[in-house]
Amino acid sequence: MPSSTQSLRHLVRLTDLSQEEIEGILETSVKIRQEGTTTALSGRTLGLLFFRGSLRTRASFEAAVGQLGGHPIDLNATSDFWDLEDREGGVMDGAAPEHVRDAATVLSRYVDLLAIRPSLSGTSWGTDRKDSMIQSWAAHAEVPVINMESALWHPLQALADLMTLREHFGALSGRKLTIVWTHSPTAASPSVVNSLLQATVRSGMQVRLAHPAGYELDSQVLEETNELATKSGGSYEVSNELPEAVDGAEVVYARSWWSTEDYENPTLAASRRARHTDWMVDPALLKRGDHAHLMHAMPVRRNLEVTDEVLDGPESLVYQQAENRLHSQKALLMHILRGAS
Ligand code: CP
Repeated sequence: MPSSTQSLRHLVRLTDLSQEEIEGILETSVKIRQEGTTTALSGRTLGLLFFRGSLRTRASFEAAVGQLGGHPIDLNATSDFWDLEDREGGVMDGAAPEHVRDAATVLSRYVDLLAIRPSLSGTSWGTDRKDSMIQSWAAHAEVPVINMESALWHPLQALADLMTLREHFGALSGRKLTIVWTHSPTAASPSVVNSLLQATVRSGMQVRLAHPAGYELDSQVLEETNELATKSGGSYEVSNELPEAVDGAEVVYARSWWSTEDYENPTLAASRRARHTDWMVDPALLKRGDHAHLMHAMPVRRNLEVTDEVLDGPESLVYQQAENRLHSQKALLMHILRGAS
């Protein structure tokens, strides 16, 4: 899964950054949070293309650029754009009137960076897992490209999650995290969990991934995570048992994701999900941990994924996580655009 064929610094996934770069960005994030902003992006224009909806990513990214003195342009990609072709060399006689190659090249003449949340077909996991749209933007853009959540990766969320974890624990090596699949009728990509799993294992954490059978993560993502664990001293294990998987956890990260086994079939997906309505984080589950905190990337379905008592309780870090999107994205933009100038 290479991120780019170019020497430009794109961020398709968090492992596109070295661990040293991530450490530096996280240190800058904390400094920005404590000391306020700079005008580091003065005179810079950044293009935002959301081909799917967003609350946190859109607002925090626009705010980050504006507060750093830059100018964000949201191209309203969900409503004001047409389909784009990403296959190379074909006859464009389908729905798409423009190729990513041309859109990316033209936009690169107007802006200093492109941030993109690509759409998913929703019809074939084999196709969507290739992340071909974000890869195509990265291959053709002449400015840095940031992935704002594709089928496989959500690097911006993982960066904010690392910042939040470090604010609580300092060094992360050896800390215990359990990622808990939660029941939700809203199909969600495993991108948040893929990025979180790799980021935390790479930081030396001991991660338990708890989900019902049938919700296994992408096998290539897991193979890569094994390699990261070997290098970092971190670890991960998979459990199909709740509540046992939370025993001893210092952080419980709740997240719903779809089963790739019935990706193409909403009826089968709903029927599989309905067998697991007990996969929810409530006070009793959180108490199985070691004074465990709760994390969730949001949006969260209250009293379905996580109870009000836990979400609004003293152990919840969810708003801090959401706030940290702003600080960590500022630090990331400064890092990437410094490299691009
Ligand atoms: N966590 C996250 O990316 O939220 P949005 O989908 O609202 O951007």
